[in-house]
Amino acid sequence: MPVVSPNTLIMPVTAKVNGNGHLSIGACDTVELAKRFGTPLWVMDEETILQAGRALKEGLSVYPNARGLYAGKAFLCMAMCHLVRRMGMGLDVVSEGEMYTAQQAGFPKDLIYVHGNNKSESEIRNAIVSAGPKIVIDSLSELEMCARVACELKTRAKVLIRVIPDVEPDTHHHIVTGHATSKFGVPLDELDGIIDAVTANIKQIELLGLHAHIGSQSKELEPFLETVDILADLYKETKTKHGLDLPLLDVGGGLGITYIEADKPAPIYQWARQVAERTLSAFKERRLDLPELLVEPGRSIIGPAGTTIYTVGHTKKLPDGTDYIAVDGGMADNPRPITYGAKYTPVVANRMTSASSKTPAAIVGRYCESGDIIVEEAYLTAQTGDLIAVFATGAYNYSMASNYNRTGRPACVLVREGQAEIIIERENNDDLISKDRVPERLKN
Ligand SMILES: Cc1ncc(COP(=O)(O)O)c(C=O)c1O
Repeated sequence: MPVVSPNTLIMPVTAKVNGNGHLSIGACDTVELAKRFGTPLWVMDEETILQAGRALKEGLSVYPNARGLYAGKAFLCMAMCHLVRRMGMGLDVVSEGEMYTAQQAGFPKDLIYVHGNNKSESEIRNAIVSAGPKIVIDSLSELEMCARVACELKTRAKVLIRVIPDVEPDTHHHIVTGHATSKFGVPLDELDGIIDAVTANIKQIELLGLHAHIGSQSKELEPFLETVDILADLYKETKTKHGLDLPLLDVGGGLGITYIEADKPAPIYQWARQVAERTLSAFKERRLDLPELLVEPGRSIIGPAGTTIYTVGHTKKLPDGTDYIAVDGGMADNPRPITYGAKYTPVVANRMTSASSKTPAAIVGRYCESGDIIVEEAYLTAQTGDLIAVFATGAYNYSMASNYNRTGRPACVLVREGQAEIIIERENNDDLISKDRVPERLKN
């Protein structure tokens, strides 16, 4: 069977138009889902997630010892931890909350990698006490904190060091991370000094490898391959200068997905395969032992699986001809358009066979910002009560969502073969006030 790479598709792999002319996902009618669970609603297609995981695994299979780590920042909840585990992947976490979610879901601790450019002492302590998670060190001061905590706990911290490879992928400047002036990681010319600090703290620090991550939503392969070469050079230097053979190599994530027709990302299968092949050749050429190869995709695993269903409230036509279709969600459930001009593909989920419109309308959110526009130019017509489905919202939507205007975050359902199960409950008004406290003196 040919390997499907869901990151090349706009819609989830199970998306269909059913006999009623409705969008169905995972054999669930989205109109029924909207009735049952309300809107806005995130619909996550399990099959799309699993196929992305399969494509990744197949691509990596040319390498003797490789593993995907799912980047939890893209979307994390307890059910997702279970799916990640079933796919045989490890997990990249960046906060106490993500770590707690993984721990509560019983995620294997030796497959957890702790990232972030400003880890707190308690995050570092938790990782060390758990005796399994690896800490990806971002600076000399973080390394020193790690050594101090490990010394107090009379143990050794397992670490990787994140370097800045000075490679820039083809993406928005807010989400590049591997450029020379990045806030993430250690500049290449400071790596030696950090490794000296590791050597000076050898009883507290076990250095397992190096890590680099160049950015997110990158569609080209070349920047990833260039990063592999740079890392291989560093492994060579680390061996010759410091006598260290590092057993792990983490080349990060960042592969793009298809939000609109014009997006043509490398398929996840190809990405994994080429990264694996380049690692093989780069380490062979330098006569180095092969480390375990880790890659950290987030968006390309979960992004294509998610679809947001909104209900149209009011529509409006301005004298200059501008058409507005207002829906019941917006920037609080999907801050990507207002944050970096992200584009999406919408459809009318309850009238999939209706002709498209010749003139564009703007699909706007319900939040109090003029920039709260989900799709600027949508070639569709919609009336009050219609359902708008917006594809490829699985990544960096729920995880970046807010309670702006005191609205609760929507529910999230996982669909598979006609079954729909809640994996994250909708937040209600009581949730919104649950942390409020009123000082006694204000009460009368
Ligand atoms: C260290 C690290 N690894 C992995 C990722 C995942 O990136 P993506 O979701 O684009 O694959 C990120 C996100 O920017 C990251 O910062």
